Parts: sequence; C-alpha cells; structure tokens
Amino acid sequence: MSPAGRPAPAEVAVLTPSADRRLGLGARWLALRNRLLASPGFQRWASAFPLTRPIARRRARELFDLCAGFVYSQILYACIDARLFERLADGPRRLDHLAADLGLTEAAASRLLKAAASLRLVEPIGQGRYALGELGAALLGNGGISEMVRHHRMLYRDLDDPMALLRGERPQGGLGAYWAYAESARPGDLDQTHTTGYTDLMAASQGLLSGDLLDAYPLRDRRCLLDIGGGNGAFLAAVAARWPHLQLKLFDLPSVAEQARQRFAREAIAPRAQAFGGDLFHDPLPEGADCGSLVRVIHDHDDDPALAILKAARRALPSGGVLLLGEPMSGTPGAEPIGDAYFGFYLLAMGSGRPRTAEELTAMLREAGFDRVREVPTRRPLLTRLLVAYVN
Ligand SMILES: C[S@@+](CC[C@H](N)C(=O)[O-])C[C@H]1O[C@@H](n2cnc3c(N)ncnc32)[C@H](O)[C@@H]1O
Repeated sequence: MSPAGRPAPAEVAVLTPSADRRLGLGARWLALRNRLLASPGFQRWASAFPLTRPIARRRARELFDLCAGFVYSQILYACIDARLFERLADGPRRLDHLAADLGLTEAAASRLLKAAASLRLVEPIGQGRYALGELGAALLGNGGISEMVRHHRMLYRDLDDPMALLRGERPQGGLGAYWAYAESARPGDLDQTHTTGYTDLMAASQGLLSGDLLDAYPLRDRRCLLDIGGGNGAFLAAVAARWPHLQLKLFDLPSVAEQARQRFAREAIAPRAQAFGGDLFHDPLPEGADCGSLVRVIHDHDDDPALAILKAARRALPSGGVLLLGEPMSGTPGAEPIGDAYFGFYLLAMGSGRPRTAEELTAMLREAGFDRVREVPTRRPLLTRLLVAYVN
C-alpha cells in the first residue's frame, strides 16, 4: 500500500500467484506478462539487453507520448492559431521574419518552431530558416483539420476532470452547448445562432469524408438520394458534382436546412437539390428517394434515439432502396484509439451518443428492418467506414 492507503501501482498491475491458478491459460499469461512489465528490474534488464532494447525503447516512447499528448496538441493549436502553416505555404522563411510576423521574440518563436519541428509540422532547413514539415503540409491541404483543432479548446475544457464527466457531471457551456441539439428537448426550435457554429465545422471537415464514401459506393444506378442530418449540404454538393443525374434531398433541423437551401442556390444545384426542415424524432422524412445516407449522424445519439433514426430511414425507403451509413467506428483495426478513446470521450463531453462497432451498427440496422447489411471498405477507415443496408 502507498502512504495514502491506495494500492501501489505494482499491486494493481499484477495478480498474485494464487489468483493466477483460478484463471485460464490466456489470463495467466497476461498476468505473468504484466508482472514482468511492471517490475523495475525487468524494465532495466529489457532496456539494456540488445534483443529487447528496441522494444523497450518503443514502449517507453509510447508511454511518454500518452503522457505528453496534451502538450503536443497545444503546440499544434499554437501553430494553427498563429497561422504558421499558411505563413510557410509559399516556401521557407527566416526565423527572424517569422518571429516578427507572429509578434514573438526570436527566442519564443524559436521555441515554438523547434517544438513544431520535433512533431514534423515544420522542418528546419539550415541558416535559421524553416519550411513546412510533412504533417504541416498535409494539414495545410485540409482546412477541416484546422477547424477541428480550433474547436478542441472546448473539448479540453470539458475534459479537465474526466472522472467527473464519467460520473455524469458535465460542465456548463462547452461541447454540450456547441452541439445544441444534443442538450435540447426541442431541437426543431433551435435558431441559427445555435446551429451555425457546428454546421460550418461539419461542412469544413466534410471534404475529409465525402470523396472516400463516394469512391467506395458508386451511385450510378440510383435515382434520388436523401441525406438525413445532412448539415448545410456539403456532402450533397459533393454528390451533385460526382453524379449529375441524381435528384437530391436533404433533411435537417429547420435552421440548418435553411443554410443548405442557401448553399444549393449559391452552387446552382437548387433545381435538383431540395432541403427539408424538421425534427427527426417528430417529423416524417420526405419520400421519393431510393437511397438514403446518414453521415456522422448515428454516433451522436444514444441507443434508443439512434434506433429511432434508423427506423425512420427504413420507413422512408421503398423496396429495392439502400441506406449508406458512414461514420468512424469503434474497434477499427489500426485506429482503435480514434473510435474508443477520441470519439468515446468526445461524445461523452458532448453529452450524447457513443462510437459503435460495425457489428453493433449492423445489428441495429437489422433491428430497424433492413434485410441485409454489408460493409464496403473505404480508403481511410479511421475517418469513416461505410455500411450499406438493403431493403428487399
Ligand atoms: C454531426 S452532424 C453531421 C452533419 C453531416 N451529415 C456531415 O457529416 O457533415 C449531425 C447533423 O444531424 C442534425 N440533427 C441532429 N439532431 C437532429 C434532429 N433531431 N432532427 C434533424 N436533424 C438533426 C444536426 O443538425 C447536424 O446537422
């Protein structure tokens, strides 16, 4: 026991030998492994022995990255806040010029640039000059990422006491207020002061997904697509550009549908794109589409409302119809922390919804009345996976 009366870390991490005997082989192996990994003697030996040294160093680095993740995120935030990547977009710049642009002393600018270089956001190229780094350049091409990073300020405030969040004690304001429909008993009454912030963010980040979804599932044989919870129409605008024969319908809260109407007029697709305002839980979806889409909608909702949305989508589709469900999912191989850690806690802070596995979503789609569900691979499953649900 620690002086404070709490179990010492090693006591938490390992099982006693007598407890081991009651367990199966797999659990006994895990207990042995954890006993070894938690032992300072083993850690010293593994980091010195040539065959285990690379693994030990990798593990130490992974653990340090977990501890330091917030600091890395704040350095990224500072770069975006200072518009550093835009300032380097036309080519390398001298440190003293950057410092003057950023309103920082050279010492402070150098600290930021060195930190950003260590994260591959920028790259020193000698003679006190810096260029965009690999990750900074990638970020520059994706305005949506910068907007996501900016709005993370609210998330970090909400996550200040994660145990309190888990107990259901959510701070006022923050993400719950930002995603106003998550907290509202009457989301249909929300005006644009409450819906424009998140709607613009969704539109800015839609480009990260729409191409992958449309590449994965060609809409050549479809006549009319209904995008449910379609925001201000960014996804449908991408659909319109890809499939000129398709009729398009969008359903969202009235104040969001109005923003979609404005986009359709601006982008001259109004004749074939209509926006309908309403509340998914009270108003019927428009009929006439032979294909529906739910992009980043279901994970925002707890199980009962999520099932209600899937049932509404099923009712709106005719025989032969299909529903495309695209969102990041829990348990995505190679992207496990994005689903369960990032979205798990993001949605907790927002106050509604959870990330689900493809299997959970498949079962819900079946329960909602779809006859068959299959997953279609997407190019970047960490950003979005795609389930296609069929009506016989
Ligand atoms: C996370 S956003 C996704 C927007 C868009 N599909 C995208 O991927 O960019 C969820 C959308 O669902 C809409 N929504 C939430 N609750 C709703 C409700 N009860 N009725 C209608 N729309 C709703 C929101 O207004 C928002 O546009």
